[in-house]
Amino acid sequence: MQRTVISIDTIKWALRPLYRVVQWVGHAFGYRLSVTVTPVPRRGWGSPPPAAPDAGSVRARLYGRDPFEGFPTDAYAADLRGWHSTHPIFEQAILAVRPTTIIEVGSWKGASAVHMATICRRHGLGCEIVCVDTWLGSSEHLLSRGDEFDLRFRHGYPQIYYVFMANVIASGFAGCICPLPNTSENAHHVLKQLGVQAGIVYVDAAHHYASVWNDLQAYWELLTENGLLIGDDYEWDDVARAARDFAESVGRPLEVHGSKYVIHRGASASHGAR
Ligand SMILES: C[S@@+](CC[C@H](N)C(=O)[O-])C[C@H]1O[C@@H](n2cnc3c(N)ncnc32)[C@H](O)[C@@H]1O
Repeated sequence: MQRTVISIDTIKWALRPLYRVVQWVGHAFGYRLSVTVTPVPRRGWGSPPPAAPDAGSVRARLYGRDPFEGFPTDAYAADLRGWHSTHPIFEQAILAVRPTTIIEVGSWKGASAVHMATICRRHGLGCEIVCVDTWLGSSEHLLSRGDEFDLRFRHGYPQIYYVFMANVIASGFAGCICPLPNTSENAHHVLKQLGVQAGIVYVDAAHHYASVWNDLQAYWELLTENGLLIGDDYEWDDVARAARDFAESVGRPLEVHGSKYVIHRGASASHGAR
């Protein structure tokens, strides 16, 4: 089938007589008319989201190209299992902040990232979700047995990153989720250097006191003024202690919602149930 493409110049040329008349009337009343043509950003989720324009997105600044390009999705069966990945706090936080950037520290197979992307899409929010993970697992993944902890070793090296990539593509969010495979510490330096600021940071990486404390401290720095820090696994003693100590150190209240905790960077607005 043959397609006819009408360029902007053709449209401008066709509208010229009308433009002249409007300009002439404008002149008569002492106004000068000028027209600017600005492309409307695409809303499709297969492309970068509108509020995170390509040139400014972390993906563009980090890679300069699409990290999902050419990925062999068919080689991996969908497996979006995670832990507490669809907690209601995500939707409440996203609606409260309406972020253009979310940083997730600890992504595993992508369940929570895909959930946040789904919420953003449902509410028409253009948001880039940067996923920081070594994709090497936390100590509990290495020390536990069972399918849910399986890191998919190949010659002794985890392949879980590829499961994450396949899940993101299969869920239709390759345009707005950006993987950053590194330690949370290194990734923090990279994001800071790039000047990245996030409306929401979700910390769900290692669970030892020092790791949680370091992640909270590092990523707190990257939150926007009214940003929200959400953490997972409050039922772990180390996590709870680090979260409480950190909230106290920054003089902000700590909200607890079951397994999740929330610390507001700016003036806090409660999210209801504890
Ligand atoms: C509990 S899982 C994340 C689960 C995920 N948020 C979900 O809901 O499905 C923790 C992840 O943190 C990552 N991780 C642990 N320590 C890390 C570190 N220091 N830097 C980066 N990633 C780390 C692990 O590789 C693992 O994938």
